[in-house]
Amino acid sequence: MGVCRSLVANDPNLTVYEALRLLRILKDGTTIGGIACKMKVLSVMAALGFLYYRGLLEVDGERLTVRLPSKVEWNVKSLVELEVRGAVYALPNAEMFEDALRKRDMGIIYEFSQLPINRDSLMRKFAFMQSFQDVDGKEMIFVGDDDFLSVTCSLLGRPKRVVVVDLDERLLEGIGELSKKYGLDIETFKHNLVHPLPEELQGSFDTFCTDSPHCLGGILLFVSRGASALKQGTETAGYFVFQTVNEPLLMEFETRQKLLRLITNEMNGVIQGMLPASIKYITPRNEDEKLMALLLEATKMQSLEEYYRYVKKVLKPSSKFIEFYPEFSMEASMITRVVFRDPKPLIEGEYDKEAERRYGPIYSWTIIERYTAREK
Ligand SMILES: C[S@@+](CC[C@H](N)C(=O)[O-])C[C@H]1O[C@@H](n2cnc3c(N)ncnc32)[C@H](O)[C@@H]1O
Repeated sequence: MGVCRSLVANDPNLTVYEALRLLRILKDGTTIGGIACKMKVLSVMAALGFLYYRGLLEVDGERLTVRLPSKVEWNVKSLVELEVRGAVYALPNAEMFEDALRKRDMGIIYEFSQLPINRDSLMRKFAFMQSFQDVDGKEMIFVGDDDFLSVTCSLLGRPKRVVVVDLDERLLEGIGELSKKYGLDIETFKHNLVHPLPEELQGSFDTFCTDSPHCLGGILLFVSRGASALKQGTETAGYFVFQTVNEPLLMEFETRQKLLRLITNEMNGVIQGMLPASIKYITPRNEDEKLMALLLEATKMQSLEEYYRYVKKVLKPSSKFIEFYPEFSMEASMITRVVFRDPKPLIEGEYDKEAERRYGPIYSWTIIERYTAREK
């Protein structure tokens, strides 16, 4: 810990707790992109370097994995590990769940900001929602669902009605096929959320779930559409996700402040439950390859100090993802539960030029493209 701190001065999430979690993950072996923790990428790389130079890291360049050698004794269980294990062991319909994950693996469309969450995050999200009684017996709507959370909730819980709205026909088909195969009765609607929800879906649900694009406009739009689907005059709940680290182009402190203010003041929502460090996205394989190539090059250095200097120099240009999100932590999002009684969507009509002027574009890549165009 001390050594990593001396190398990376400014990562507030470089804590003993996160370091323990990292060791726990490394015990089982993982790709670098598969490491889930709140620390910045740079801090994780510093920690990997530290372990490597102490002879405590096995690096497998072929399989793209890093792990602690088996001789290391380990008897600390992290809270997160226990939490997830509990949910997984209790998992009914395990085979069907695996089948759903296979079907979900269809390649992402960057233009739709797709980036599915991993298996553990799906479980945690389901467990979190279930713990608030927002699944069983409820009418649920999924506002965008590349995660297949609708299928997870249907397989593991007992919702009364499940509807998925998305623009991507491929995933609606996939969800439809699983629904048919396992008798889940999931309804799918192809719909572009820049337009208001179809009349028939408005005002009729108890719970909405969304993992929107990670920028102010995107979150406000998807949450608004979710809120428009909720019943009026009774307590209902919505789930959304937002970044909790400062990311200069997408989510600064002030953006988070504005987002939560608008949801509570303008949309009549009450924030009632947050699960920190709760979502890990599946890193595309080519990003994993780049991180591994970098680690292999860097570990040719003679000392940890040289290793770290090298990593710092080449990390940013090494990958599009890290170039765009240099401050991104490896597990950046917080699942947030908002309770409504009289939901009032902030965006009611089209997401038009006026909305965009106020809240910004819906997609993070639009923001990034504009930014890079301005820089040129
Ligand atoms: C926006 S992605 C979330 C990914 C992740 N949170 C991120 O920011 O990288 C969630 C889902 O929304 C869908 N989606 C994106 N834009 C949409 C739109 N305009 N209308 C309907 N669904 C959309 C995607 O197909 C995907 O399944």
